[in-house]
Amino acid sequence: MPATANKALGRFITFEGGEGAGKSTQVKRLVAALQAGGLETVATREPGGSPNAEALRKALLAGLVAPLGPAAEALVFSAARIDHLDNLIRPALDRGAFVVCDRFADSTRAYQGASGKLSDTFIDGLEKVTVGETRPDLTFMLDLPAEEGLARAGKRRGAGKVDRFEAEDLSFHQALRQSFLDIAKAHPERCVVIDATRPVDAVAADIWRVVESRLFGAKKPAPRRPKKPTAKETT
Ligand code: TYD
Repeated sequence: MPATANKALGRFITFEGGEGAGKSTQVKRLVAALQAGGLETVATREPGGSPNAEALRKALLAGLVAPLGPAAEALVFSAARIDHLDNLIRPALDRGAFVVCDRFADSTRAYQGASGKLSDTFIDGLEKVTVGETRPDLTFMLDLPAEEGLARAGKRRGAGKVDRFEAEDLSFHQALRQSFLDIAKAHPERCVVIDATRPVDAVAADIWRVVESRLFGAKKPAPRRPKKPTAKETT
């Protein structure tokens, strides 16, 4: 695993939530806002984000791993995450870029955890070995009732095929929503719940306010840069 000591240079922001919460729209809006501020910003997604992980994404969303059960599914999502971290996320953070990712490890906890068949010990251990020190600095939980999210996802899909997770029943999606809210409650220093039932502009404005206050403080947007070594440090 590559060194992660420089991770503090960049900022890692993730978006989480159930189906149809509007994550990809908000990722685009935030990336555009950060880039407009002159910050190098990488937009990415999970499962996927690197060529090997995109190959695993195809298998996961086609439901090819589902028959192996939730533990195996969690392992394959994590395998994709390891490749994504090694080949895209850590290199970007290490050069001081912002990384904005549509889903990350909280999705494994919520989705695979929603089966009710995985212990917290299993999920905690898997997350630890997969993610290591590369935890998000900030996570937006886009929250809306499961029925509303599924209706939006259905509209977006049109006549297309329902994927592996959209096909789960309403109680699964309700458990999923609760799970994301529980994660946010357990990690208030990292997570912010956003009411995603509102119009896109209102949601984007809330997100930007949080980014400004949590990552930039009162100052103008500027990532933490590596401290120039003093003469003493270089000798
Ligand atoms: P995607 O089409 O990207 O859906 P969405 O727009 O809702 O993000 O498909 C990703 C699906 O994979 C989504 O249903 C959530 C699921 N998923 C997991 O079950 N576990 C995970 O760890 C991740 C990252 C995603």
